[in-house]
Amino acid sequence: MRRRIGNTLRAVLYLSAIAMPGGALAEDGSAAWLRYAPVAAAPYAALPSRIVVAGRTAQEKQAGEELRRGLSAMLGRDFPLVPAREAKTNAIVIGPAAAHFAAAPAQNQRDAFTLDVKQVRGKTLLAIRGSSPQAELYGVFRLLTEVGAEHRIAAHQSEQASAAIRWTDEWDNLDGSIERGYAGRSIFFEGGHVRPDLARAAAYARLLASVGINGCNVNNVNADLDLLTTEHLHEFTRIADAFRPWGVRLALSVDLASPQTVGGLDSFDPADARVAAWWRRKVDEIYALIPDFAGFTVKADSEGRQGPAQYGRSPAEAANVLAHALAPHGGVVLYRSFVYNNYLDWRDPKADRARAGVDNFARLDGVFAPNVIVQIKEGPIDFQAREPVSPLLAALRRTNVAIEVQTAQEYTGQQRHMVWLPSMWKWVLDTDLRADHRSTPVRDIVVGRAFPLSDGRPRLGGFVSVTNVGREANWLHHPMAMANLYGFGRMAWNPALPLAGILDDWTRLTWGNDATVDATIDAMQLESWRVYEGYTGPNGMGTLTNILGYHFGPGIESAERNGWGQWFRADARGIGMDRTARGTGYIQQYPPPLAARYESLATCPDDLLLFFHHVPYDFRLHSGKTLVQSIYDAHYAGAREAASYETRWLALKSRMDDGAKDERFEQVLALFRYQAGHAQVWRDAVNDWFHRVSGIEDARGRVGHPSGRIEAEAMTAVGYQPRAVTPWETASGGVAMECKLAVGCSLATTLDRPAGSYAISVAYYDTWRGASRFELLLNGVAVARWRADDTLPPAQFDAAPDGQTAARFTAHGVDLKPGDRLVVRAVPDLRPELVEPASDGTPRDFREYATVDFVEVVPEDAAPHSETERLPGKK
Ligand code: GCU
Repeated sequence: MRRRIGNTLRAVLYLSAIAMPGGALAEDGSAAWLRYAPVAAAPYAALPSRIVVAGRTAQEKQAGEELRRGLSAMLGRDFPLVPAREAKTNAIVIGPAAAHFAAAPAQNQRDAFTLDVKQVRGKTLLAIRGSSPQAELYGVFRLLTEVGAEHRIAAHQSEQASAAIRWTDEWDNLDGSIERGYAGRSIFFEGGHVRPDLARAAAYARLLASVGINGCNVNNVNADLDLLTTEHLHEFTRIADAFRPWGVRLALSVDLASPQTVGGLDSFDPADARVAAWWRRKVDEIYALIPDFAGFTVKADSEGRQGPAQYGRSPAEAANVLAHALAPHGGVVLYRSFVYNNYLDWRDPKADRARAGVDNFARLDGVFAPNVIVQIKEGPIDFQAREPVSPLLAALRRTNVAIEVQTAQEYTGQQRHMVWLPSMWKWVLDTDLRADHRSTPVRDIVVGRAFPLSDGRPRLGGFVSVTNVGREANWLHHPMAMANLYGFGRMAWNPALPLAGILDDWTRLTWGNDATVDATIDAMQLESWRVYEGYTGPNGMGTLTNILGYHFGPGIESAERNGWGQWFRADARGIGMDRTARGTGYIQQYPPPLAARYESLATCPDDLLLFFHHVPYDFRLHSGKTLVQSIYDAHYAGAREAASYETRWLALKSRMDDGAKDERFEQVLALFRYQAGHAQVWRDAVNDWFHRVSGIEDARGRVGHPSGRIEAEAMTAVGYQPRAVTPWETASGGVAMECKLAVGCSLATTLDRPAGSYAISVAYYDTWRGASRFELLLNGVAVARWRADDTLPPAQFDAAPDGQTAARFTAHGVDLKPGDRLVVRAVPDLRPELVEPASDGTPRDFREYATVDFVEVVPEDAAPHSETERLPGKK
């Protein structure tokens, strides 16, 4: 946490964790990009006010209502819905009735719409026509975007969705928890059942539809075993009903053992006729209740899930049983290729988890049923900050595929760090896999055009995003994270769209149309992936997080020497997985032109180097720097850029519209302050670790010699005791000081800085549940107080000082002179109720010992963002 404190510090400031000034116009973020804030009305003066809904379906009526609501709010005048006979011209017409225009999209075109503007006898006619009522709704949302983002409305626009599958996956459990969910509990489930109130589910479907998403799988891929009971199916109809008006179809993740767990059979062998019959009956039962049910997602033979392997059957045999049951109803199976052995032998130099996708699925190419789609994670491991593209995407030529990305920022900051993921997705989608020595970019593969059906038609395919919205008002916790969901939808609709346009639309719709506000937010978001990658995972090594626990803070060696296969094989001389032909051979899974590029050190890109090669720490990169120096520099530059967000954000407040500048503004501010601190935690952990394993000094002398740092263990302690922190790199010097005395403890030091204005940071650990109280005193006078009561991810048991709980508080503008006495005083949170008996017999001890790592005192004008160093690759 960072707080700004005025230059003259006479009064004690009482600071709460998150200041959220209320206000009549304050918005809580639930409207997301559909807030319909007022825009400059003059350019739209000629836009007809009357809306005619020519079609008769409920969906078209709903489209008309959405348009009325949006245009009236944004343009400040009424847009009544009128009957067709009252408005032959000077109207916005939704649906088929509009004459005067060239042909409307044909019904057999999937999700196609046109927007046409014509002058007829001096009046304006705007027609929104679609290949279906659903497509008309998409057209309405496009018009609302044009107005909301203050774009000119073109005389003619025509669009069509790129692919049939445009889904989100939500990893919600029936008990209401969400696997890798970072924004509260489930909007769908609670206590083993569908929630009585599904207003949020309906609101979510509206958001999804507004960016063209047409399917939503509502439950965890690690599916509840009793999901498919008749009782539950009846409950799921209510979710489908909430989705339906928006054209979002319900899908479910199913466990392949369901014929046993729900059906009571003694087997779930896909080759067993009784099993196939059970699936047919179950699917018929579903469709009798939910006629527009979209289909199943399957995770099997993976991370403890049962699957066909135990019967010696293939994924295709299992998928096809479900597919045959779904086919008569038009349903699909998304069978995940995330099948791997998590008990790999790390001692075996040939073992390689990255190989699993191709090894398990390539041989099955062409044997999946026509309504099976293999759902492939974008990279071969697991949503790291950077991975190469999965080679399986090029290996399946006669199989439908969809790409799986993760809006939920599991390995990319858990919606506490701003990371705009469409930058990464675009990089993935634009990667040309060069199958058969021709251009086959990933985007052409997933929309089914790179390897079409034998008659030339595109294959079924598309896009899936693991999203995990929660019950927090703004859906994803970080207001900026909503740009990821927005971006996913727009990219799935049209993966060729330029990134900047997608982002700018989101920014304008979410934060208003002020040019400076938009340019600043766009710039921060556009660089945010590179910034995050800069201070976390270097050169394709993966995100160096604690992979055994929460996937949030640094925990570098957790990836090594276990069965999970996320190794980077560091030794005294070098680092990186050897995936060349001499190593695991993984690179050979790519089509030859790409394999040749990755195989050779001369052509392998710097940002993927350690994914493919084991190299010495002083290996010279294409950038000209040594590997280790580049890592040091990237981590300083990344943390510095992250620290600049706060200042850039604060400069925008006066320019924001009333609805943007209160609650949402303050949320972002608090998150940027947190990110600035946690980015430094990451920087120091990764750099200290590389420093230790490589033994190579930072040419710029920073690593191991942080400026202005006073270790807590070097301060005069009253009550505080040293404790070792695990892993060692998540505390400065591996040690922090903790206080176990109810009355509190203190750490003191005498400063000898030249007179001037300083920023004073305290690095501490904010463990889950506890709320220690801290006070910073200068010459006996308190200059700041704060509580360590943040609810950091992971929102689960982490009572230890480590990379997830490391946080910092910064007081700015503190005037110092030589001889000043600085004291950190703290009262730990030792409430007995924080010790909970746990079901497994191990008590959970959430007591928090006000643990302090260090204090840092730096001149205010040496604020990190004033330096000019840039991230690699940035102009
Ligand atoms: C990751 C994630 C798991 C999830 C899995 C999956 O490993 O950490 O929580 O179940 O991906 O995609 O199936």
